[in-house]
Amino acid sequence: MKRTEIATVLKEEKIGEKILIKGWVKAFRSNRFIQVNDGSTINNIQAVLDFENTDEATISKINTAAAVSISGELIASEGKGQRVELIIEQIEILGEANPEEVSKTVMQPKKHSLEFLREQAHLRFRTNTFGAVFRIRHGVSFAIHKYFNDKGYFYIHTPIITGSDAEGAGEMFRVTNLDAKNPPLKDDGSVDWSEDFFGKETNLTVSGQLEAELAAMALGKVYTFGPTFRAENSNTARHLSEFWMIEPEVAFNDLNDNMDLAEDFLSYICKYILENFADDVAFLNEREIQEQKSKPQNERNELTLIERLNFVIANDFERITYTRAIEILHNSKPYKKKKFKYPVEWGIDLQSEHERFLVEKEFKKPVIITDYPASFKAFYMRQNEDGKTVAAMDILFPGIGEIIGGSQREERLEVLKEKCAAFNIAEEDVWWYLDTRKFGTAPHAGFGLGFERMVMFVTGMTNIRDVIPFPRTPKKAEF
Ligand code: 4AD
Ligand code: MG
Repeated sequence: MKRTEIATVLKEEKIGEKILIKGWVKAFRSNRFIQVNDGSTINNIQAVLDFENTDEATISKINTAAAVSISGELIASEGKGQRVELIIEQIEILGEANPEEVSKTVMQPKKHSLEFLREQAHLRFRTNTFGAVFRIRHGVSFAIHKYFNDKGYFYIHTPIITGSDAEGAGEMFRVTNLDAKNPPLKDDGSVDWSEDFFGKETNLTVSGQLEAELAAMALGKVYTFGPTFRAENSNTARHLSEFWMIEPEVAFNDLNDNMDLAEDFLSYICKYILENFADDVAFLNEREIQEQKSKPQNERNELTLIERLNFVIANDFERITYTRAIEILHNSKPYKKKKFKYPVEWGIDLQSEHERFLVEKEFKKPVIITDYPASFKAFYMRQNEDGKTVAAMDILFPGIGEIIGGSQREERLEVLKEKCAAFNIAEEDVWWYLDTRKFGTAPHAGFGLGFERMVMFVTGMTNIRDVIPFPRTPKKAEF
């Protein structure tokens, strides 16, 4: 007999059929009811054991986490909690799990902290929460490809090893093929890095944007979707050293087109997940509601997870300029009561306390801030007429902060060259990029969506380490 996945069994409910399932034991109650899950859905199937007619050796091995193969007849269930159940005709233990060892893991049925779960690289995938999160993570990535494909964008693979620092923030991990224990030395005894990567200084990419611009100025509409790396020593719930980023880049788009695209894109992803991962979202929604109960009233979310997703689907974002944001902050209660830790004045980069105020208190919805001062934004952003600001946009989400960063690009060669000079970027290092402004330059724009921050938003998880299977954070790369 061919195996049927539990998701299919529960969806089709073919009462009276003989089926074969395989999965892992979630629980075994009253020597009779085995809850089995195979990862295809958050829901378990209940398999009913004929205890009297099963040999003792087999029964002793039906333990939580064991892998089993079960065949039998699907019947309508009379018990509450499930609509169908499987009457076992044959059960085989494929892989045992020692109950004593299981009791020390997250498989033990009680509430575990997310920190504890994080230490269990393998078994956290088996929990309801992480099963749901990682199925949804897949769904988000699929929705992204589907969105762009349906709209005629081309997926461009940009390099991971590169000589460029696209963001100019100097937060790069160096790539080297030198023998760290025995590196080539210069005459003065210092390491000769010029031999690095066969004679070229390289690092792991911080963004695929510059390469995507080259492609966009030929193919029109492109996007990247790949891992990016940042050597910033930030130990926060929103930063990873290795994260995935989606970067659409579109020829002939200006900043307004860029904002429209971003809103439509974010809304599409939320809709896709609500429609296609309803069971997982419902589970996470309920999980969050329960968690919120243990929090003081003023720290609770105003909206549930599902309400937040619907909010983004409704596409109601606030758009304000940076200058306006500073004004609003100046007139705010926390500013007047000196509650902000960081100063608020035109020219400063907004801190997360300021962003949170705007999103969660002032507007209570996603906010797009545009036209930031040029001084703390990247060299490639288009200079505005005022000479002080650039055509940048950051999208801020409740509970997440910055989820998207983007801009209209500086398409004027002379202005871009001046920017390079001001940012200490040698023209000969970026000649390949400047070329896009020499051969039929045109306005174009794009943005970067932090993939894990998006997964946080659609799952309601509050720590970025809990939405990526193997998080890389400072000093953490063991598994
Ligand atoms: O704002 P960022 O640095 O923008 C860029 O890299 C541009 N090249 C994008 C573009 O215009 N094509 O990063 C974009 C997004 C942020 O808004 C954030 O969501 C996410 O990437 N991000 C991180 N996510 C997790 N961990 C980190 N350390 C992150 N740094 C940025
Ligand atoms: Mg940014």
